[in-house]
Amino acid sequence: MITVSVPSKIHLLGEHAVVYGKPALLAAINKRIFVTVSGAEKKKIDDPSLEKLKRIIESTIKKKYRISKIPLYSISISSHIPAGSGLGSSAALSAVLTFALLTFLGKRVDKSTIFDIAYEGEAFFHGKPSGGDLATVIEGGLLWYRKDFEFLKMFTPLPFRPHKNIGKFILINSGKPKESTREMVDIVARLKKSNPKKTKALFESQEELTKQMVKALKSGDENKLINCIRFGERNLEELGVVGEKSQSIIKAIERLGGAAKINGGGGAKNGSGMLLVYHKDIKKVLKHVRKNNLEVLRIQIGVEGLRRDE
Ligand code: PMV
Repeated sequence: MITVSVPSKIHLLGEHAVVYGKPALLAAINKRIFVTVSGAEKKKIDDPSLEKLKRIIESTIKKKYRISKIPLYSISISSHIPAGSGLGSSAALSAVLTFALLTFLGKRVDKSTIFDIAYEGEAFFHGKPSGGDLATVIEGGLLWYRKDFEFLKMFTPLPFRPHKNIGKFILINSGKPKESTREMVDIVARLKKSNPKKTKALFESQEELTKQMVKALKSGDENKLINCIRFGERNLEELGVVGEKSQSIIKAIERLGGAAKINGGGGAKNGSGMLLVYHKDIKKVLKHVRKNNLEVLRIQIGVEGLRRDE
């Protein structure tokens, strides 16, 4: 029996723009998904979408390792990641399954092989993902990610920990999005087609803000960090990926002196998943959250990537 796990992720900034070659800054967070694999006598059928994902991963493994058959196995999954909330649950599932199967097969695995195989699985959910979610859940920590071409995806862990002045981020649930990530990516693709000038300017602004955010985390400049989140959120609103429900939660947090943004694909029709929130005095936000009956998730950022637990 083998148990492995991966964390989930947040986008500190750069989501959507990353699909078009701009950098994104991501962090692994302490909500993990665990998979246990063991050998089986009979084939066990899981739910249809998990079956599909298993088939894609199995066939990619067979091709890559030139093996014709995978022994029968059964898996059990235990996830602490709320699904459809922008925390990268599909990337995490794809990565953890890949890692579990390769370990079960006794293969020596490196992270880049896991990335390549799991990317095929994530593409099944997303179409053409940037790969940023996947890189983060595998690598862990805080990650600077960029996809310049389909065949050239680069990522580097930030070579420092956030300055001690930087306090804790929290997540506030704005509600499950009606749309899938793929649909949200399509909204931006349509805007890019109808208004290329506007989208280009928005992507360039996101790139600059993402760079500024790295500097703010390094130097411990909270005002700068808050501005990056605020302006980054405005750009995401201009891209059409933030619904009114989230916008009103975000405005209220700004009025308290904090900043908030969607995290990941977002959502326009109803909720936009988990909002990333920062405030110099987070207690003020927590008080507001309690008064307004909002759901909060306290998180730790920069946690360990994939690991073998048993
Ligand atoms: O909502 P999530 O966790 O699936 O993140 C999607 C991030 C996007 O930049 C919108 C898409 C991508 O493939 O990077």
